Amino acid sequence: MFRKITTLVATAALSVLVLSGAALAADPITIKFSHVVAENTPKGKMAVKFKDLIAERLGGKVVVEVFPNSQLFGDNKEIEAMLLGDVQLVAPALAKFERYTKQVQIYDLPFLFKDMAAVEKFQQSEKGQALLSSMESKGLVGLGYLHNGMKQLSCASPLRVPADAAGLKFRIMTSDVLAAQFQALNAVPLKKPFSEVFTLLQTKAIDGQENTYSNIYSKKFFEIQPYITESNHGVLDYMLVTSTEFWMSLPDDIRAEVKKALDEATLYGNEIAASQDLEDKQKIIDSKRTEIITLSDAERNQWIEAMKPVWLKFEDEIGKDLIDAAYQSNM
Ligand code: LMR
Repeated sequence: MFRKITTLVATAALSVLVLSGAALAADPITIKFSHVVAENTPKGKMAVKFKDLIAERLGGKVVVEVFPNSQLFGDNKEIEAMLLGDVQLVAPALAKFERYTKQVQIYDLPFLFKDMAAVEKFQQSEKGQALLSSMESKGLVGLGYLHNGMKQLSCASPLRVPADAAGLKFRIMTSDVLAAQFQALNAVPLKKPFSEVFTLLQTKAIDGQENTYSNIYSKKFFEIQPYITESNHGVLDYMLVTSTEFWMSLPDDIRAEVKKALDEATLYGNEIAASQDLEDKQKIIDSKRTEIITLSDAERNQWIEAMKPVWLKFEDEIGKDLIDAAYQSNM
């Protein structure tokens, strides 16, 4: 009798083990990718491409779920959420990493990069690539850079010269460099999440903001901002990041496939960023809701002169070597 019971128990335990093993094997790894922009933007499209590539190549083993438009987490929370394991992948604007490293602030320095080709050149350089691993001690793994484009200034009043911005309130991302940039114009910077910008503009709590054409278009800022100054004064790019914990928990072969799909999706996003910028600018022009102000060389030089002191202010934090290397990428 006793032997019978023991055998029964052992058999039951074995089937539980076998069953849970089978269940484990069948449970796909979920990668939740949270972001704050619309789907019809370079980041939105890159995220969907990544999801599709994973479904095609790792279907059944890995599932990507994309949450756009701050659906899950706003931009002030998404990195934290990722570190806590609530989501596994985020791609915040480079301006949003200052809590984790001061060096990445380099990308916010006004008029440092003359165009996206210079940004790309720096990002692919040894120093640019090293920044991807600069937050590892904080548990963040940088998996690559993703482009959006150059920032423009949208405003309730026309901005031709820096003095036009004096006294006005501008929403900025959470970056002290961006705060200093607007303070250099005697304007008032306000650090606010991306999801609040439209309402802040609509209620006139702020006068203006800085962003790329794709964000100005997809979030309809142009419908409530009568002027956009094409200043190209800074870059809005992203870093794809995950947590060290999640990344290292992936089996080696899966990690390699995920990285490959991520690289391909990023390349795709980067390829469409430039054309999307032009297309969205054209859609804004066609809407006739706003006037795009083109600066003369003399006017542009005034903006450069006004904002340039910001470099010196952050030279110690960011590192002169790094700033020089980034500047060289314009050559
Ligand atoms: C912003 O907050 O203005 C941007 O970072 C949004 C984005 O992710 O492009």
